Amino acid sequence: MPRIAGPKDFKVAVLGAGRIGSSLVRSFVKCGLQVTATGRREETLKRAETLGALATRDNKAAIAASEIVIISVKPSQLPQLLKEVRGHLNGKIVVSIVAGVRRSTLEKALGAAHVYRAMPNVNASIGLSSTAVSGPQDGEAAGVVESILLCAGKVYWVPEDLLDAWTVVSGSMPAFAALIVDSLVLGGVSAGLPRELAMSAVLDSLRGTVEMLERGVHPMVLRDEVVTPAGVTIAGLKVMEYMGVPAALIKAVDEAVRRARELGSIVDSAMREG
Ligand SMILES: NC(=O)c1ccc[n+]([C@@H]2O[C@H](COP(=O)([O-])OP(=O)(O)OC[C@H]3O[C@@H](n4cnc5c(N)ncnc54)[C@H](OP(=O)(O)O)[C@@H]3O)[C@@H](O)[C@H]2O)c1
Repeated sequence: MPRIAGPKDFKVAVLGAGRIGSSLVRSFVKCGLQVTATGRREETLKRAETLGALATRDNKAAIAASEIVIISVKPSQLPQLLKEVRGHLNGKIVVSIVAGVRRSTLEKALGAAHVYRAMPNVNASIGLSSTAVSGPQDGEAAGVVESILLCAGKVYWVPEDLLDAWTVVSGSMPAFAALIVDSLVLGGVSAGLPRELAMSAVLDSLRGTVEMLERGVHPMVLRDEVVTPAGVTIAGLKVMEYMGVPAALIKAVDEAVRRARELGSIVDSAMREG
């Protein structure tokens, strides 16, 4: 078990350096960790090398070279990977970011490993992920897990039964936010602004709004500071209310969480039966 130290001291294997796996590789390398990344296609391996990782198709060799193992294959690819590496993870710290597969299922499949589940988002590639992690919080392994995930952004310890909600509110959030930003930018274009200028206005304003909210201003207080009687903003807000935007957003999150739970239980049952 590695002692708790700066992240630079750790060697990490990322099994499955796909979209999210390579985002993590990028942030780990930037943090100074020694990373061995795996994939099956030449393209995957080349990308990992470009990001500064050692790249190999050999998952067992990657595990042997590392103290911490991130599993970032798709749920459907997990049974095959676990079959391949079974017996090679004893004593390792394993962090699965595979949506849906429960820690108890992984523990059963992995034997004597320290097993954690984490849910990052693609903003990890620029060190701005909001990552939830669950697993035993006491002991050295927890410190190690937290310290390497901090390379990718903020880290929150949450009970495992909240990970499906987190998958949506954090994991899906870049997609939701991008759609909302794009729609607002189109509104600006429709009103005559060049697209780039509209994009700058929306993003600058969002950045400032995030900063205000992070300082503890309640969203509705901030809204009321902008709204003036019979003014411009209320005209826009009225449309949002009439069109059901707030309810639609709540419903979108609800529906996505329902789907995350559904997929999770399909994947987890398949893993248990397999
Ligand atoms: N995408 C997200 O924003 C996000 C966020 C949080 C969690 N997750 C979770 O992260 C996992 C990966 O998602 P993704 O979107 O990154 O999928 P992805 O792009 O398809 O990445 C999966 C990677 O796993 C590799 N792989 C598959 N089987 C392998 C094996 N036996 N040995 C080595 N590498 C193998 C694939 O390599 P080849 O392409 O070379 O075959 C691919 O690069 C999923 O379980 C998902 O639930 C995703």
